[in-house]
Amino acid sequence: MNIVRETTPDLRFTSEVERNTAHLYEKVRKVVPAVEWPVYAPLIDRINRLKKQKNAVILGHNYMTPEIFHCVADITGDSLALARSAAKTDADMIVMAGVHFMAETAKLLNPAKKVLIPAIDAGCTLAEAITAEDVRKLKAQYPGVPVVTYVNTSADVKAESDICCTSGNAVETINMLDVPRVIMLPDEYLALNTARLVKTEIITWKGRCVVHEAFTPTDIGNLRKSNPGVVVLAHPECSPDVIDVCDYAGSTAGMIDYVAKHKPAKVVLITECSMSDNVAAEFPELDFVKPCNLCPFMKKIDLEGILHALETETHQVEVDPAIAARARVSVERMLTGWKPGAA
Ligand code: 13P
Ligand code: SF4
Repeated sequence: MNIVRETTPDLRFTSEVERNTAHLYEKVRKVVPAVEWPVYAPLIDRINRLKKQKNAVILGHNYMTPEIFHCVADITGDSLALARSAAKTDADMIVMAGVHFMAETAKLLNPAKKVLIPAIDAGCTLAEAITAEDVRKLKAQYPGVPVVTYVNTSADVKAESDICCTSGNAVETINMLDVPRVIMLPDEYLALNTARLVKTEIITWKGRCVVHEAFTPTDIGNLRKSNPGVVVLAHPECSPDVIDVCDYAGSTAGMIDYVAKHKPAKVVLITECSMSDNVAAEFPELDFVKPCNLCPFMKKIDLEGILHALETETHQVEVDPAIAARARVSVERMLTGWKPGAA
């Protein structure tokens, strides 16, 4: 947790704060120890008042910690759901409780709104793995081949792309293009996993997610040995070798939907580990096995940072208008549908 920042007002766990937040503690009591609540509750109470005053909306990715995900986020979901919500919001200000590319995507879809990210250094190893110049070189190498870009990229890279995708719609997006070959970047594993599910030939790039590349088939074997009967769900940023030994692969929202639908008695989510806490809070009757791989970038977002962002209206995410205009087209094509050759 960050040190309380200078602008934060007196934050005490008064009886009023306790009353105001009691219903929120009920949501997270399985995963947030009672001893921690007096630290979180004053921040949560203050954030929830301030966001109403400022007509702000907090978008929370599924990897946020439970006190953010369940207690201050107005809309939660995977990258696709957050992009869709950002496109629709009538709030004056958007606070992204997620990483920088998510805030940038929200800004592309809302150029006139203030979009804030509580930690300016909340990056992503996939977004770091490729530059706009790399994409220009790929396009020169494969002329006419559409570029499908994972949303986990900078606006500069999106601006060089034909269309974006997320892990939640990669297969549908490629099938929608209806072409024999695409370039899919930057996540090599997502591209290889998607290639198995479509007829299209996929040219890959060498990007990796630091969290998901760490899982191995041996890890999954060990989990199964020590937890007989466990159902294993994985994110498609894991290697194809890992996906082969899992029971299901899908986006963060896909995994949550699987749990809600099938209610496996014992389950493990092969992804960032805060998500297990968030889902466990909703399904207390299920047994979650939690191998703990944290995303160092997602974990830069905390309640103090969110409060500071709302109080000071920083850090504002800005995108060069010329880049934004081109990047927006790629994101909007993903959201509304597109085929090469169409405008
Ligand atoms: P989702 O789109 O599945 O939420 O994934 C985002 C992400 O960063 C996964 O590591
Ligand atoms: Fe990026 Fe991986 Fe973190 Fe997701 S989990 S934000 S892909 S580094």
